[in-house]
Amino acid sequence: MKQDQVKEHFARQADEYEKLMVKLIPQYLKQHQIIYRLLPNDDKNYRVLDLGCGNGILSELVFQKLPNSHIVGFDLTESMLKSFKKKLSKYSGKFELKQGDFRSDSIGDEYDIIIAGLTLHHLTWEEREKFYKTLYSSLNEGGLFIARDIIIDENKDVVDDQYGYWKEFMKSQGEDPDFWYSKHIEKDYPMTLTDHFAWLRKAGFSKMACQWRLYNFAITTAEKREI
Ligand SMILES: C[S@@+](CC[C@H](N)C(=O)[O-])C[C@H]1O[C@@H](n2cnc3c(N)ncnc32)[C@H](O)[C@@H]1O
Repeated sequence: MKQDQVKEHFARQADEYEKLMVKLIPQYLKQHQIIYRLLPNDDKNYRVLDLGCGNGILSELVFQKLPNSHIVGFDLTESMLKSFKKKLSKYSGKFELKQGDFRSDSIGDEYDIIIAGLTLHHLTWEEREKFYKTLYSSLNEGGLFIARDIIIDENKDVVDDQYGYWKEFMKSQGEDPDFWYSKHIEKDYPMTLTDHFAWLRKAGFSKMACQWRLYNFAITTAEKREI
């Protein structure tokens, strides 16, 4: 799928984003409890990048746990950034929003934490492997990378079974599973956890971990740390 199609797809969802995600992503809200727990426990002045920030749902979590943070919300879609600004208005002055394409535009640097929620699967596998080097160089020493994403298993039977579970879930929520599945197949590049960890290691990351997984969704962490 071309980048303008990705933009249009998300522009249409901006207002109803969270309600839709709850119906499309199994345990979407439960995942936020996991991500909250993975954030540092000391409230320092962290500089945080929320990549593919959408309406700011993960930035809100960061401010709840780390209110002294400064967040850069980076997204391709203008209407998502507008929703972010509205949703997080009480934190205004503590965040800045950048509209851009992380394939080609600078994502900034000197971050202590980078969070990427359901966004990196828009990169092809080749782009993604390279992009992990950009993420690594954008982090300060000791920095933390948290990703939640769609993943894919290595064995075809397992993949089919997991997609079957996902479709059942969407159907149980009143959504059309075939519509969303075909959008996913058309525009996304889900990675295996094996590739994900190998590319992170190659980029220089250490302490890679899968912190939560349900079928074809996972939350992982990695650190930029001299070992
Ligand atoms: C499914 S939403 C995720 C929102 C939020 N991070 C979450 O975890 O729920 C994906 C977001 O990634 C953005 N996005 C997709 N491709 C992008 C790109 N190449 N550069 C910047 N943002 C992108 C979309 O505009 C959209 O807001």
